Amino acid sequence: GAPQTRTPTGAETGAPPTDNGQQGAFLTTAQGARLRDTDHSLKAGPRGPVLLQDHHLREKITHFDHERIPERVVHARGAGAHGTFTGYGTATKLSRAGFLKKNKETPVFVRFSTVLGSRGSADTVRDTRGFATKFYTDEGTFDLVGNNIPVFFIQDAIKFPDIIHAGKPHPDREIPQAQSAHDTFWDFVSLHTEAQHHTIWNMSDRGIPRSYRTMEGFGVHTFRLVNDAGETVLVKFHWKPKLGVHSLVWEEAQLAAGVDPDFHRRDLYDAIESGAYPEWELGVQVFPDTPEETFAGIDLLDPTKFVPEELAPVQPIGTMVLDRTPTNYHAEVEQVAFHLGHLVPGIDVTNDPLLQGRLFSYLDTQLTRLGGPNFHQIPINRPHAPVNDMLRDGMHQHAVHGGVAPYHPNSLDGGNPSEAGDAETAFVDVPVTVTEAPKIRQNPASFDDHYSQVRLFWLSMTPVEQEHIISAYTFELAKCYEQAIKQRQLLSLANVDPVLCQRVATGLGLPAPEPTVPLAEVTPSPVLSQLGQTWPGD
Ligand code: HEM
Repeated sequence: GAPQTRTPTGAETGAPPTDNGQQGAFLTTAQGARLRDTDHSLKAGPRGPVLLQDHHLREKITHFDHERIPERVVHARGAGAHGTFTGYGTATKLSRAGFLKKNKETPVFVRFSTVLGSRGSADTVRDTRGFATKFYTDEGTFDLVGNNIPVFFIQDAIKFPDIIHAGKPHPDREIPQAQSAHDTFWDFVSLHTEAQHHTIWNMSDRGIPRSYRTMEGFGVHTFRLVNDAGETVLVKFHWKPKLGVHSLVWEEAQLAAGVDPDFHRRDLYDAIESGAYPEWELGVQVFPDTPEETFAGIDLLDPTKFVPEELAPVQPIGTMVLDRTPTNYHAEVEQVAFHLGHLVPGIDVTNDPLLQGRLFSYLDTQLTRLGGPNFHQIPINRPHAPVNDMLRDGMHQHAVHGGVAPYHPNSLDGGNPSEAGDAETAFVDVPVTVTEAPKIRQNPASFDDHYSQVRLFWLSMTPVEQEHIISAYTFELAKCYEQAIKQRQLLSLANVDPVLCQRVATGLGLPAPEPTVPLAEVTPSPVLSQLGQTWPGD
């Protein structure tokens, strides 16, 4: 079996899972030698030159030279906080996950982020927001890596580099899209019309949240839950903020970006420091796990579609309170590493092709960003469950593993502790039929509808929200230099709604085109337009 020595867990090193690298009353070198002077380098006489033998000088400057790590390739700008998740017990019939049991408390760390801006960019730009939660459960770490918008731009992860290249700053001037020409972004979303749904959410008030505390969070993809009896359901995860959903208006967002680029970061930290702990309720929409993986005609594997709450109400399964700010931004917020493959018994992935590509991407990027394969040993990433893996050595190895050799089965190394029943383990293969269809680079036909839910969203908005959406499209498209791109995007708006298209076209001084597909017949959803809505009973 795997040798018994292992990395200490966060729980064992004592909560909070941080490692205060400073001890003693005196200033020392990194080797612990006490220093007399850290203000002057060693020189050949008072007028120099500086001597190469001054190890303290070289150690101090060398370490400083290497203080930065690469920022995240997306979601580089963020803020985080610690807290606790408490299960309601309402999900135990759906999932065997221990942290969902009634009154079970689990430590969490949440990182909120914008997507496109660099680490130093402003908080209140029009963008999607990340909402990533790490649950340090007794059964291993579970990461729910979501956004504040329930759908995504693309249906297949292979398109992710394309959409991000189109949205990031121009390669020549490195000027962000949000402040300069918008041609590449609008080129992409008008050529790849599956992006139109996510884009209208960005153009709505959801694209400029008032605070991280007033955002919903969505797992976006459909996940599979497995209960004690091995029965499965498909679910979508939702976080609902206790404070309700609130947004800025565009003028406020622009002013805040200039006057206080740290507006959301400050708001989160100030609220927690003053005891106004933000709270979210976690809920699931539940769907039968049928071979078709559809619900009410909606393909549950298509991440550009959501299921309206009128068709599948969100069922509350627990609550999360954030009550502690990070001690050290770099150690915690910058070094935290989320991954959709961090699953616990009772929660599994589906075949959503966007989700499947994400399973590859996060670990891969973190190998570069966090300098090798041992970043799970960084305190913020350490599981609170006992770890007894067979991973050894590598850059930045902190554990001193004992035992003969990490191979399995292994008769020399004290037993065989690795096997457990399905009920206790993650990564159990849920029996899902994989078809005998040939390998193919093609989407299912159900992925072809790019407009019906965009129209549903538009028609569900209040008149004020619709005005904001018209203004946002007009403002952003006006920043494009290429007329052909504006016209192509107007064509997409014509397929959403004639009024929306006409109003934006008028604002741009262009003719409104005719739709190219029949307008979808949809019933507006009263739930979608829910800005300001707070928890029932408040
Ligand atoms: C980072 C959400 C799609 C690649 C993030 C983060 C969030 C997120 C919240 C920030 C994590 C943090 O705070 O550290 C989502 C959602 C998606 C999505 C909700 C779609 C439903 C994708 C896809 C890819 C991708 C399709 C690639 C194929 C990445 C990468 C990072 C990232 C590389 C940086 C991770 C790191 O450096 O630690 N994503 N993402 N994402 N995402 Fe996604």
